Amino acid sequence: MQRMSRRADFPTIVQSGTEIRQQVRLFQQRGDRVGMVPTMGSLHDGHLSLVDAARAECDVVMTSVFVNPTQFAPHEDYQRYPRDLERDVELLAERGCDYVFAPSVDEMYPSGYETSIDVGSVAKPFEGEQRPTHFAGVATVVLKLLNLVPADAVYFGQKDYQQTLVVERMIADLNVPIDVVVCPTVREADGLAMSSRNAYLSDADRHRATALYASLQQTKQLVTQGERRTAELRRAMRQHLSQTGIEIDYIAMVAAGTVDEVDTVDGPTVALIAAQVGQTRLIDNIQIG
Ligand code: PAF
Repeated sequence: MQRMSRRADFPTIVQSGTEIRQQVRLFQQRGDRVGMVPTMGSLHDGHLSLVDAARAECDVVMTSVFVNPTQFAPHEDYQRYPRDLERDVELLAERGCDYVFAPSVDEMYPSGYETSIDVGSVAKPFEGEQRPTHFAGVATVVLKLLNLVPADAVYFGQKDYQQTLVVERMIADLNVPIDVVVCPTVREADGLAMSSRNAYLSDADRHRATALYASLQQTKQLVTQGERRTAELRRAMRQHLSQTGIEIDYIAMVAAGTVDEVDTVDGPTVALIAAQVGQTRLIDNIQIG
C-alpha cells in the first residue's frame, strides 16, 4: 500500500484489488459502514458532493479513480480524458476521504479478460443508442469495483440519469448487497452541470453550453404554466437551442425512474438532453412536473 505523507490526513492510496478488499472487510468486521464513490478522476465539485454525502453517512469513505477504457468507443476521448491523480488526491484529502482505490488497467482487465454485462432494455435508448457499447462498459466496471470494494453504500450523481438506472438495474438483478445513493446534480453558477468534460470547452463553447440548462429550465417553467404535451415541450427546447450552434443528439421526457418516454407530463417526469457543443458532447437533465 502506498501512502502519500504530505498531510497527516491524506487518504491511503491503494492500487491492488486484493488489498483494498481486505481493508474493506477489516472495517466491516469492526462494525464500520463503508461508503464508495466510483469516479474516473479529474474531480470537480459534483464528485466531491458525493464524497461529502458518503462522509456524512458512513464511517469510512473510499473513492475509486479509474478511467475505464471499456466504456469508451474507439473514436471517443479515452486517450485525452483528463487525468491528474495527485490533484484528485489533494481534493479528496480536503473532503475527508479515507482511501483512494486507483487500480491500473491491467489490474482491472488482466490479459485474457472477456466478460461483459448486458444490462438490458434500460441501457438501450438515448445514451445507449448514441454510444452502443458504453453501458456494458459502465455496468461491468461498476460491478468489478464493487466486488473489489464491497462497500455498504455506493454514491452516484443524478447528472448521469440513465447511468444511475443502469447501475440500479444491474445491482438489483445481480443481487449486489449494497445501497445505491443518487445525489443531486451540482452546477456552475450559470447553471452548467459540472462534468470533467467541461474542461474541453473553448470559451465560446463554454458560454454556449449554458443554453442546455436554460432550455431545461424553460421546459420546467412551461410545465408550471400548464403545458403538459411533451411534443410541444421538446419543440420549445429545440427552438430555444436553435440559434446557439449546439447540435442536439436527443431531447426526451421520461417517467421519473425509467427510460419510458411520455406524451404528457402527468406525474414526476425527467427531461433529458444530450448535445454536441463544439467538439464536446454534454448531457444534462432535470425533473419537471
Ligand atoms: O460516472 C462515471 O464517472 C463512470 O461512468 C463510472 C461510474 C465511475 C464508471 O467508470
